[in-house]
Amino acid sequence: AEDGYDLWLRYKAVEPQWRQTYAASTRQLVLPQRQSPTLRAAADELRRGIGGLLDIDIGAAEKVTGDGALILGTPQSSPLIGKLALPLGGLAAGGYLIRSEQVDGHRVTVIAANDDIGVLYGAFRFLQRMQTRRSLDDLAIAASPQVERRLLNHWDNLDRSVERGYAGQSIWDWWRLPDYRHPRYTDYARANASIGINGTVLNNVNADADILTPRYIDKAAALAEVFRPYGLRVYLSARFSAPMEIGGLGTADPKDPAVRRWWKDKASEVYAAIPDFGGFLVKANSEGQPGPQDYGRSHADGANMLADALGPHGGVVMWRAFVYAHDNPEDRAKQAYSEFKPLDGQFADNVILQVKNGPIDFQPREPFHPLFGAMPKTPLMMEFQITKEYLGFATHLAYLGPLYEEVLEADTCRIDSPLPRGQIGRTADLGAEGARAAGERQGRRESVGPGPGERAADACTGQATVASVVDGSLHDYRHTGIAGVANIGRDRDWSGSVFNQANWYVFGRLAWNPQDSARAVAEDWLKMTFSPDSAFVQRAADMMMASREAVVDYMTPLGLAHLMATGHHYGPGPWVSELARPEWNPAYYHRADAGGIGFDRTAEGSNAAAQYAPPVAERFASRTAVPEKYLLWFHHLPWDHSMPSGRDLWAELVHRYDRGVAQVEKMRADWAQLEPFVDRQRFVQTGAFLAIQEREARWWRDASIAYFRKVSGRELPEGVRPPA
Ligand code: GCU
Repeated sequence: AEDGYDLWLRYKAVEPQWRQTYAASTRQLVLPQRQSPTLRAAADELRRGIGGLLDIDIGAAEKVTGDGALILGTPQSSPLIGKLALPLGGLAAGGYLIRSEQVDGHRVTVIAANDDIGVLYGAFRFLQRMQTRRSLDDLAIAASPQVERRLLNHWDNLDRSVERGYAGQSIWDWWRLPDYRHPRYTDYARANASIGINGTVLNNVNADADILTPRYIDKAAALAEVFRPYGLRVYLSARFSAPMEIGGLGTADPKDPAVRRWWKDKASEVYAAIPDFGGFLVKANSEGQPGPQDYGRSHADGANMLADALGPHGGVVMWRAFVYAHDNPEDRAKQAYSEFKPLDGQFADNVILQVKNGPIDFQPREPFHPLFGAMPKTPLMMEFQITKEYLGFATHLAYLGPLYEEVLEADTCRIDSPLPRGQIGRTADLGAEGARAAGERQGRRESVGPGPGERAADACTGQATVASVVDGSLHDYRHTGIAGVANIGRDRDWSGSVFNQANWYVFGRLAWNPQDSARAVAEDWLKMTFSPDSAFVQRAADMMMASREAVVDYMTPLGLAHLMATGHHYGPGPWVSELARPEWNPAYYHRADAGGIGFDRTAEGSNAAAQYAPPVAERFASRTAVPEKYLLWFHHLPWDHSMPSGRDLWAELVHRYDRGVAQVEKMRADWAQLEPFVDRQRFVQTGAFLAIQEREARWWRDASIAYFRKVSGRELPEGVRPPA
C-alpha cells in the first residue's frame, strides 16, 4: 500500500520506452577513487534510484569500459573527472555539473562538483530527470544554489509535541537518543538533500533551555552524525535566559561578563560535540520570550553577545525579527520595522536577521515584510511557514508555492545600491527548463510600483525583488539564508497529508533557486509523487496552483487577515472576544462596523504603508492603485465602496467567499477524475480530506458572511441565499 513514506523519492519503474533510453545512459557506475560518506551516499542513492526506476542493478566499476557510463566525483576524488577539465569554476558551494562527455571514445555522463555534497545534489538531480521523464542525452546542466543557508525550522518541543505541527509528534525521539538512531533520520536527511536543504534547527523557537544541557547536546550530536553525509547541519534554538535556567547565574544581561563567559563556554561545549554546528536561532522579547530588553539592552546587544561566542567556531546567530508587544500601541504590522530598522549596521558580522515573509504572521496572504530592502547593512534571511497554521492545518489542500513565489518576486523598489545580478560569481541553472520558467515568471511578474506615467517608476525595475534581498545580490550580503517552519512529524506520510509534502518540496526548491517557478516545481513533484502522465499532471497542477487562492477567498479575501479562531487558529472567528492582548482580537484586524471594513494603514491611519520604499508606499496607500488583494490590509472602506468588478465592497466580499467555496468544490470534482492515475490509499485519503475542506470552506464562508452582515447591517446581495 502507498502510505506516502517514500515522499517524492518513490523510484517506481518507468514505462518500457523510457527504460530503454535511460538504460543506455546508466550502463555502469564509475565511482571516485577516494571515497567519503557523502560520495557513498550519492552512489547508494543512484543505485537505489536506478534499481527502482529501471530495474537494473548498476553495480560499480573502476573505469569506463564502454558507452553509457555514469561517472561521479570531484577533481580531488576522481582523477578521471580531474582529467576532463570541466568548467567547475563558476559553481558555488554545493553546485554541480551534469554533462554528456566522451571518455576514451566512449559516450559517458558525468556528475561533477567541487565538493562532495555537490556530487550528491547532482545525483539527486540526475535521478529527478528520470523521475520526471526528461532526456539524459546531450546534457549540459550547471546548477548552483542561489542562497547559502537553506534551513528547516522545527518547532519541536523536548516532550515531542510540536508547536503548530499537524503531522503527529516530533520525529526526534529524544528519549531514545543518542543511543538509538531511528532509520527515519536517514530518510529525513535524504529527502532534504534531494532538494538541497542544508541545515535544520531541531527545536522550537519558544525554546526550552534544556536543549543546551550536556544530555541534549549529546542527542543533537547523534542526529548531526546521521545528517552529516547528507550535507545537513544542525542548529539549535537558544533560550536567551539559559544562563539563569541551566547555568545557575542570577542574570542573562548580555553586558554581564559572567553571562558572556557562560555563552562562550557553552558554544565551545557544543562545538566539541558537533564540530560543524551551524549556530543559534533566537526568539527574544517576543510573545513573552526573554531577551536583552529585559535588561534595557537592544536586540543588537543580545545578538552580538551570542555572535561573539559562536564566531570563533564559525557559527552564526539567526536573530528573529518577529517581535510585537502587548503594551505597544503601534500597529502590530509596524513594530518589527520600527524596532530593527534603526539597528541596521549595528549587528556583528555573523548575525543574520530572520524575517517572516509578511509583517503580521504567516497569513494566507500578506504583503511582503517592509524590512526586505530596508536593511542594506544587515543580512536578512526569509522565514516562511511550511506547516499550515493559518491555512487549514493538515487537511486543507493548499499548495504554498504560489505564496512563496508571490513574496519572492515582489519588487521592493529599493535600488539604493544595486549590484548587477550574477556579479557574485554564482551560476544559476542554465538548463532550458530553467530559462523557460524564468521567462514565464518574467511575463507574469506583477509590479507593485506605480504604473506608467506615475512618479518614481524608475525605482521599480523588477531588480530589487525580495528574492534579490534574500539571495544577497541586492545588498551584497555576507550571508544569505532562507528558513521554512517544518510541517514534519511522525505520521507515516511525514506531513499530515500527501499534498503537504509538496510544500516541503517547493520550499526546498525555491530556497535553492528563488527564481524557480511554483508551477514547474508542482509539476515535477506530481510526476515524482504520483504519475508522470500529462493528463494527470496538468489537471492536478491546475488544482494545486489554484488551491492557495481558494483558501484566501474562503478565509480572508481582499486583504483581510487573522480572522481565525483564537489560539488554535482553526476555523473562522471574526467575532470580538475578550482577550489578553488587543492584537489577538480579530476585530483588531478587520475593524468592521456599520460604516465599513478594513485596516487603515495610510497616513490617515497607522501609516504602515510608509515603511515601504516610496513608490511602493504610494501605491499601497492609494485606494485605486493598491492591488485588490491587499485592499483591506491597507484601507478602511465603506461597504458601498465601488470595486473594479462593478460590485460594491460588500457584494464583492460575499462574491469572494463564494468563489473560494466553488473552487474547493471544483478541486474535489477534479480529484475524482484523477482516480485512474492514483493508488487507492492516497486517492481515498485525498478525497476524504477534500470533503473536509469543502465542508469547512462553507463553514468559513457562512460564518464570516453572517458576522459581517450583522456588523454592517446589510442585506445579502441579490442571488445569494442565506446559509441553510
Ligand atoms: C505564531 C505562532 C506561534 C509561534 C510564533 C513565532 O504567532 O502562532 O505559535 O511561536 O508565531 O513565530 O514565534
